[in-house]
Amino acid sequence: MNKKEENKIENPLLKKENDPYLNKIIAIASQKGGVGKTTTAVNLTAFLSSFGYKTILIDFDPQSNATSAFSLIPEEINTTVYSLIIYNEDPNKAILETIYPNLKIIPSTRQLAGAEVEMVTVFKREFRLKDAIQRIEEQYDFIIIDCPPSLGLLTINALAACKDVIIPIQNSYFSLEGVAQLLNTIDLVKMSLNSKLEVKGVLFTMYSRSRLAEGIYNDLKNNFGNKLYNTIIPKNVRLDEASSHGKPVLYYDKNCKGSIAYKEFSMEVLNSYLDNKNFDSGLTI
Ligand SMILES: Nc1ncnc2c1ncn2[C@@H]1O[C@H](COP(=O)(O)OP(=O)(O)OP(=O)(O)O)[C@@H](O)[C@H]1O
Ligand SMILES: [Mg+2]
Repeated sequence: MNKKEENKIENPLLKKENDPYLNKIIAIASQKGGVGKTTTAVNLTAFLSSFGYKTILIDFDPQSNATSAFSLIPEEINTTVYSLIIYNEDPNKAILETIYPNLKIIPSTRQLAGAEVEMVTVFKREFRLKDAIQRIEEQYDFIIIDCPPSLGLLTINALAACKDVIIPIQNSYFSLEGVAQLLNTIDLVKMSLNSKLEVKGVLFTMYSRSRLAEGIYNDLKNNFGNKLYNTIIPKNVRLDEASSHGKPVLYYDKNCKGSIAYKEFSMEVLNSYLDNKNFDSGLTI
């Protein structure tokens, strides 16, 4: 396995003051539960914002794990992503500041679970999230959407609203199960709702050294080639602890293995949008 030296990249490409906003919209999606979508969305958001990029995380899952990961209490929030897609509410009203620089969140609550059914009769129901995002996208470098573990109308809304999808794949025996179905859905959305949609990359998560893991890595490399991120996210209990403490790992234990890996991953993502202009980390994507 081509394991990169930890901490090799010391200096992220910090955003310069007058750089224009990048306006990138990325969905973190997989219908499989527990593969690391929320952990990836939360920590990618945290690192990109720490590099100086204005970033907003949209929690688009009724489980509201991303909302809790920022110590926000779902029951105490009035305007959420639900109001945006059901009542066409002004998205600016749902944006919450966090204590971290450049980092905002549009929260969700359990109420969102009803939205799939309520949206059935709504006009242009696949585009409700896109309509909301269009009203704010110019003010951000990155808009990251944390999707629920299903391929229902919420995920379709996310895929219709974004340009790029990142798919986390967990280190487990059934890891590739269902990926074909996800890719098929992405193709269908691309054909019918969003011609710009692309799989930006596939992220191997919760890695721990074993023969099985080597096999999964090789399968991913064979299936996804250079779309597989070079960075591999290790299984690291600090990531789990950080979210249970309501913090991105960067602000919980920035030197743990999970934090270092998510920093490298975030730089890999960022670098792929900057056309490798000023930054050569030897990454291929
Ligand atoms: N690299 C990791 N090492 C250890 N624990 C992890 C790692 N990544 C995620 N976890 C933990 O695994 C659990 C599932 O992760 P996460 O919530 O990110 O998955 P998910 O795909 O968003 O799940 P769901 O489909 O339910 O939304 C969480 O308890 C999380 O803290
Ligand atoms: Mg989740």
